[in-house]
Amino acid sequence: MQLIWTQDLSVGVDAIDDQHKELFERINLLRIALSEGQGSHAIAETSKFLADYVLEHFSNEENYMSRYEYPDYQFHKSEHTAFMRNLVDFKKNVDRLESEGGMTSFLAIDMQRQLYDWLVHHIGEVDKAFGSFLIAKQ
Ligand SMILES: [Fe+2]
Repeated sequence: MQLIWTQDLSVGVDAIDDQHKELFERINLLRIALSEGQGSHAIAETSKFLADYVLEHFSNEENYMSRYEYPDYQFHKSEHTAFMRNLVDFKKNVDRLESEGGMTSFLAIDMQRQLYDWLVHHIGEVDKAFGSFLIAKQ
């Protein structure tokens, strides 16, 4: 399932929307790596490429939140932390499977579903709420 950014996911702030688009691109690369059954080494590289960007993007949003004294900062940040923890777990599974001799399609499907569900919820609700706050402040 390819992740496609659509206008209804816009949070109203171009800089954040652009980062979400880049995030989707990187998730799609991971999806391709998983679905093509690329080796676990390639998958580990692709998930690192994604995780690096997720970290950069989350800290970017969090900087905005503290700069503008966003009242829901702690809650929003806790969602980011939970997502990073999921990515770390995923990476551990990839490493474990590498030592056992290969990826399973179950892991690939599970990962896609988790990323997809989380992003749709997070961007559609949590980031949008923050976007509206930011627009009102600026
Ligand atoms: Fe966020």
